[in-house]
Order: sequence, then structure tokens, then C-alpha cells
Amino acid sequence: MASSVTVLRTVREVREWRGDAGDVGLVPTMGALHGGHRRLVERAAADGVAIASIFVNPTQFAPNEDYRAYPRSEEADLALLADAGCAAAFIPGVEEMYRPGEDMRVVPGDIASRLEGAARPGHFAGVCTVVAKLFGMVRPARTYFSHKDFQQLRVVQTMVRDLALWIRVVPFEIVREPDGLAMSSRNAYLTPDERRRAVALSRGLFAARDEWARGTRDAATLRATVRGIASDAGTPEYVSIADPVTLRELEGRAERAVVSLACRVGRARLIDNVLLGMSLDELARL
Ligand code: PAJ
Repeated sequence: MASSVTVLRTVREVREWRGDAGDVGLVPTMGALHGGHRRLVERAAADGVAIASIFVNPTQFAPNEDYRAYPRSEEADLALLADAGCAAAFIPGVEEMYRPGEDMRVVPGDIASRLEGAARPGHFAGVCTVVAKLFGMVRPARTYFSHKDFQQLRVVQTMVRDLALWIRVVPFEIVREPDGLAMSSRNAYLTPDERRRAVALSRGLFAARDEWARGTRDAATLRATVRGIASDAGTPEYVSIADPVTLRELEGRAERAVVSLACRVGRARLIDNVLLGMSLDELARL
């Protein structure tokens, strides 16, 4: 039997739970937890006391996006967290997170301007604001982010550096379904047929990874490879070969790259990436 999770719904409860209990590791999530979240939490629990937050953050969704439809499954989430060895779950309501009369937002810079930031204006301001608030509320020593959301990881790393927040950001791998599809809460939107097609996204990325392993470094060639295969899933919004540190698009020869894409498959907008020529350890040290 897994031990149970302490459920905390207010900042006051977090403070009481937290006491001066020492270091904790925070895993921010929006719930609808899957095997990727589970592995992220297991990693945090292996490092010490783990707390996960579950909050579908309205400020990171544009009005035309899926805030209302976003899957919510608190009971199953708590069972998964208990099983993963998580000590506590912070599940604030919207009014607890965003108090009436609030007047501050985090404004991310250049790193947030391209790719997801260009496709979803305001998205990273919402992410940074809620993540900064979570950091203030929980005061973790460590926080865990997967590179599934590569740009989000880099934006959060940059915020921690530039606002001198005293927290170690631990980058984590992407957990995939057996056929390669990156696990995502939004995969729940896929019909069986769309689910079968969606695998073309990771196949395209893996083909670029294989080409890289055979020595290809030309950005345009890698981009064409991904686009050619991923198009079986739908028309990608973008296929990007970018520098993993700056996220600027690369032309010509790449020494290291994050190959990323976004693609709508039915109702789901899916993102995925592979990191080439750079390890997560190197990313952690930025
Ligand atoms: P959410 O999409 O729930 O993701 C929470 C964390 O789980 C992020 O670090 C994300 O990269 C990671 N994750 C998602 N899919 C994964 C996979 N297949 N394998 C491993 N980890 C995976 O990202 C958010 O929530 C929000 O933007 C948040 C940071 C909580 C701010 O609201």
C-alpha cells in the first residue's frame, strides 16, 4: 500500500505543513496526471520530500484555448501521487492563487518570444507568474520540469537565474508511450484514429535524431526530414531546429539543437521535441 498524500488547499495549509521541515522538491502540474508526471514525481521523491501542485492555471490559456475543457481528475491524480511517493499535493482554487486586487505579473523576455510564445501570446507570462507564485508559496529547494515542454523549461530556468530565485531547476526526460508518442494530458482528446496518426510526430523527430547520429548537421535537412514524416499526423504549426540555450532558429550547420514541433491533431494541439548534441546534465548547468 502506498502511503497517502497530504492534501493542501490554501497557502496557510502549505505553510503549516512546510513548517521548518527542511528542503522540499516541488513538481508543478496542471493535473490529469499520466506516466510522465508520475516519473517526474518519483524523481523528486527520490531526492527528498516531494510536493506536487495541481492547478489548471487560467492565465496561461488564451480565450480561444482549452481552459474549460482541460481534463480534471483529482481523485485519480491523488492516487497516482500517493503511489509515486509524493508527500503532499497543493491544490489551490483560482481565488487562492489569484487574490482580488492583485496587480503584478512576471514579464518574460526574448526566450519566451518565439515558438510556443509566438503561437500562444501571453502564455509564458501566465506560466512564469504562476510558477513564481508557487515558488513563493512553497519555497522549494528544488523544482522539477521535463523538457517535454522544452521552451517552458528554458523560460523557467531563465526566470530563476534573472530574478535570482534561490531554487535548483532539475530538468527531466520525456516519458513516451510504447510507440513513441510523448505522454500528454491532451492525448485524452484524441480519437482512436487520431491517436494512430499522432505517432508520426515522434517518428519525425526520431528520424532527425537518427540522421544526426549518422552525421547530418544541416538545419534545413533536419527540418525537412521532420516535416516530411510528421505531416502524416497533420500540418505542423511549426517544425523548428533551434539552439537549445537561446531557442533562436538555426540555419546552416548545427553543433547542438532542440528539434521541436507543434501540430494540431483533431482537437488536440500536441508538442514534442528531441534534444541533440546536448545532455540534460549540460542543460541543468546553464
Ligand atoms: P503540465 O502540462 O501538467 O506539466 C507538468 C510537468 O510535467 C511539466 O514539467 C511537464 O514538462 C511535465 N510533463 C508533461 N508531459 C511529460 C512527459 N511525457 N514526460 C515527462 N514529463 C512530462 O507544464 C505545465 O503543466 C504547466 O505549464 C505548469 C508548469 C504546471 C504551470 O501551470
